[in-house]
Amino acid sequence: GRVAVLLGGDSAERPVSLKSGKAVLQALRQAGVNAEPLDPAEEGLVRLAAGRFDRAFIVLHGRGGEDGTMQGALQTLGIPYTGSGVLGSALAMDKLRSKRLWQAEGLPTAPYALARHREDLAAAAEQVGFPMIVKPSREGSSIGMSRVENLSELERAWSEASRLDEQVLLERWIDGPEYTAAVLDGRVLPLIRLETPNVFYDYEAKYESNTTRYHCPCGLDEAREAELASLCRQAFEAVDGSGWGRVDLMLDGDGQPWLLEVNTVPGMTDHSLVPMAAEAEGLDFQALVLRILAATLE
Ligand code: DAL
Ligand code: MG
Repeated sequence: GRVAVLLGGDSAERPVSLKSGKAVLQALRQAGVNAEPLDPAEEGLVRLAAGRFDRAFIVLHGRGGEDGTMQGALQTLGIPYTGSGVLGSALAMDKLRSKRLWQAEGLPTAPYALARHREDLAAAAEQVGFPMIVKPSREGSSIGMSRVENLSELERAWSEASRLDEQVLLERWIDGPEYTAAVLDGRVLPLIRLETPNVFYDYEAKYESNTTRYHCPCGLDEAREAELASLCRQAFEAVDGSGWGRVDLMLDGDGQPWLLEVNTVPGMTDHSLVPMAAEAEGLDFQALVLRILAATLE
């Protein structure tokens, strides 16, 4: 059958998706799959609706592609697609709702406050404390995020974040390395520890820098890694993730883990983490892509 590789889209992560999508398309074609690129931002859903495709491989990042809307459209069109369903996609895109669900299940996530309005900032800052990290609730690739130390920096950071999402999260700063756990077919792949000279693992560190270091194996002992892997699987299931994805977390100085977020369409660029974790398990990029495709949601 014919596979539509959905890439691009109109979110702030479009450039990342174009890279991820091209890599996936190329791998599918090399494996002999009849795959075609389709950019919903350029051509809408007409070709999908015309019934030319048997399956869709979603490589759209961010809102409009990773947040359940495209998943709902595909479901309505009767086209099976990769990754999480409507609910899981919508919940994972929304860091605020993800955190609330984790809290309800007793899973650790950094203390936070929601600031929808500038007038909320003083009280929210009081609650969270400085330093903190300011994030648009439904964005990706660290776009619109900043670390802040005081109220005037917070005002600036909030303005920037609120341009991207009217729901802005203020989250307590966790001083510790970031780890990430790729999930594939219900299993957690070897964890990766990120090391960056930047203030945090930001857009530049993710896609542009060659000073970011990736540690896989991550350096934790086996029992500890298994514990964190289990936490990440629970975090993924709590937001109703399925198929594949990636759970990001930090470990603070006391070794306490703090869940950051779930990505239901993680990056698949040559700097990306899921391919790196798969490689550590002996699964090359092409094999990874075929496994994701095989787990298509009906
Ligand atoms: N949102 C980016 C693509 C990631 O999580 O990899
Ligand atoms: Mg993300």
